[in-house]
Amino acid sequence: MSKVLYITAHPHDETASYSIMVGKAFIESYKKSNPQDEVIHLDLYKEDIPQIDADIFSGWGKLQSGDELSAEEQRKVHRLGELSDQFISADKYIFVTPMWNFSFPPVMKAYIDSVAVAGKAFRYTAEGPVGLLTDKKAFHIQACGGIYSEGPAAGMEMGNRYLKNVMQFFGVPSFDSIFVEGHAAMPDKAEEIKEKAIARAEDAAQSF
Ligand SMILES: Cc1cc2nc3c(=O)[nH]c(=O)nc-3n(C[C@H](O)[C@H](O)[C@H](O)COP(=O)(O)O)c2cc1C
Repeated sequence: MSKVLYITAHPHDETASYSIMVGKAFIESYKKSNPQDEVIHLDLYKEDIPQIDADIFSGWGKLQSGDELSAEEQRKVHRLGELSDQFISADKYIFVTPMWNFSFPPVMKAYIDSVAVAGKAFRYTAEGPVGLLTDKKAFHIQACGGIYSEGPAAGMEMGNRYLKNVMQFFGVPSFDSIFVEGHAAMPDKAEEIKEKAIARAEDAAQSF
């Protein structure tokens, strides 16, 4: 039995979001193929995802010095620990994000900051950092108004590329993606783009 984290970063549901609609098709197909697996939905717009701020820095400092943390420092540092423990305890990750200004919404970056913990996701060695999550798999579904998987704007794409690099840094050996892309650039093809992406997601989920 695998533990699957279905991580979505969108304020809307599938009725108003291409990425969530395709993500939903993926996870429903995955559940059908893997009914024994545990699937946990982390909706980053509903979860408490602390940003690394002054409380967290001072909390980390106090943990080192042995001083007592304030209630707020304690709460935030504890929550980061919960998120990173949950992340490393999972076997598979499915990230679902819209493209906003060439990348993903800021809460996704805050989430990555909460799980990128030395000693958990990677460790430092004399030869440089080494990823520790070598038995995991990751999948990313991203919706964009324009085309970024190829062509002149490909170099501007920084959401999928960032996640791919981070997963590689964590040692995750498998990273696949679906771009639901071009509906704003080609509105007459929007329905076809959506349907094709849903079909690809349903198919990819069966072997994920
Ligand atoms: C704040 C914001 C920024 C956006 N930035 C881009 C962009 O950089 N490139 C692009 O092609 N589309 C951009 N779009 C369009 C979205 O990527 C597109 O609508 C996509 O479908 C969003 O995913 P969703 O359907 O899941 O909401 C942006 C939309 C919003 C709301």
